[in-house]
Formats: sequence, C-alpha cells, structure tokens
Amino acid sequence: MTTGPSNLVVTGAGSGIGQAVCQLAQAAGVNVFGIDRDAHGLAQTQAQTGAGIAVCDVTDEAALIRAMDSAVEHFDGPPDALVAAAGIYRIAAAHDISAQAFADLLAINVVGAFVSAREVATRCVDGASIVLIASMAYEAGDTNEPAAHYTASKGAIVSLTRQLAVEWADRGIRVNAVSPGVIHTPMLRLVDNPVKAAAYLESGVPLHRFGTATEVANACMFLLGSSASYITGVILPVDGGATIS
Ligand SMILES: NC(=O)c1ccc[n+]([C@@H]2O[C@H](COP(=O)([O-])OP(=O)(O)OC[C@H]3O[C@@H](n4cnc5c(N)ncnc54)[C@H](O)[C@@H]3O)[C@@H](O)[C@H]2O)c1
Repeated sequence: MTTGPSNLVVTGAGSGIGQAVCQLAQAAGVNVFGIDRDAHGLAQTQAQTGAGIAVCDVTDEAALIRAMDSAVEHFDGPPDALVAAAGIYRIAAAHDISAQAFADLLAINVVGAFVSAREVATRCVDGASIVLIASMAYEAGDTNEPAAHYTASKGAIVSLTRQLAVEWADRGIRVNAVSPGVIHTPMLRLVDNPVKAAAYLESGVPLHRFGTATEVANACMFLLGSSASYITGVILPVDGGATIS
C-alpha cells in the first residue's frame, strides 16, 4: 500500500500547481502548510484545504526561515516533505534582460527553491522527500517565447535536484523534480493567443492538449509517497510527450 508524507510544506501554494498539490495532499489526509507571497491566493488555498499558511516571499531568507518555524508549530512536529512550486515566468528577448532582472528571477526560481529545501532538510527527521519544479524549458531553447533567465533557472533546478539527492541520500532524504510542459495555470502565456496555442498543441504536444495543475500535482504526490521510495535524483517529465525525442 502506498503511504504519503505526514507533514508537507508547499511553496507557491496560492495558485496553480502548488495549490493543486495542497488540494490532493489534503484529500489524502496529509497535514499541509502553504507558503506564498500572494495573501489572497493563499487564503483561497486555506479555505479550500484547511492548510496552515504563511504569507512570505521566498527571496526573503529570514522570513522564509520564520515561515518554516511556523510550519513546525502548525504540524506540532517536523516536516517530512516539500514541494517547492513558487516561481515566476517572464518572456523577454535576451538583449532586453538586464542583469538585475536576471538575478531577480534566479532569486525566486532557484535560490528560493534551494533555501526552502535546505530549511526542510534542516528540520526533518531522516527519510523525508523533496520535490522541486523544473520545466521542459531547461531542455531546449525557444525563439517563440524567449526567456533566457527562466530557462537558465530551470537548468539550475535540474542540477540542484541531482546535487541535493546525492548529498542528502545518506539521511534518506529523496530529492526529485517534475518537469512540466504547457500546464494550464495563471502562469501560462500560450493561452493568450488561441491560434498560436492550437498550432503548438497540434505540432508540439503528442497528447494535443494542455496539462492541468492536478496532473502535475499527481506526479508530485507520487514522488513524495512510498511508491517512489527507491527513486531519487530523477527529473520526471509531465508534458504530454512534448520532450519525446
Ligand atoms: N504552468 C506551466 O506551464 C509551467 C510549466 C513548467 C514549469 N512550471 C513551473 O511550475 C511552478 C508553479 O507554476 P504555476 O504554473 O503553478 O504558476 P502560478 O503562477 O499559478 O503559481 C506560482 C505561485 O508562486 C508564487 N510566487 C511567485 N513568486 C514568489 C515569491 N517570490 N515568493 C513566494 N511565492 C511566490 C505566486 O504568488 C503563485 O502563487 C513554477 O516553478 C513554474 O516555473 C509551470
């Protein structure tokens, strides 16, 4: 029988994939603590799931540490799982990306995920499970939606996943990532242009549709649970076949 985690922290819990993880986890009887900088979205998640919450920007290291302390208080015990889904996407030609804009994106997508993982690993007892969120963007360049900073951030998530998996394996902490394709959440920009979207789904996605946040969340729940007990350091595509080569 598959067992899930007991005490799960989710960043980016106020929208999209993070919110869907909270919903699935709560339905599976997992204690959930959500972190997001968007108070409104987070309140919605709390109303839906009863999760504990902390409004927090993951780039504020001190605030994130306090939020993790609040999670321990909420659980009345250590966390044993994390899904780090806080992230942003910005489309911009490489010529137009300033050093500051590049650094700001990395601060959220990479450093925020790293500090979240570090703080859960610091507090958890041995045998925890961590899921980071990459993107199929890490695998190939894209001239339709150029985003050098975003693409680089997701390449970093892949390397970070593998490094942490090796480094924390002795403690029985498994670290994996999911790599979503085009998922219908507020982040997705392809939906802004239905004609372009239809053409892309026809030619670029073998399953010919967008994925849902719940489909990505299901993959996260699999990686967190006992069914994945011998899986670590893996980057799991959830992309309708878009990266089949
Ligand atoms: N939607 C897609 O097509 C897609 C594809 C590949 C990867 N992803 C990745 O999945 C993850 C979740 O994306 P989503 O589609 O659910 O997007 P989303 O915009 O619906 O949710 C992202 C959440 O992260 C929060 N967030 C952003 N910056 C934050 C910060 N500094 N501190 C705290 N919270 C912050 C936002 O408030 C939001 O609630 C991201 O890492 C994204 O890059 C999404």
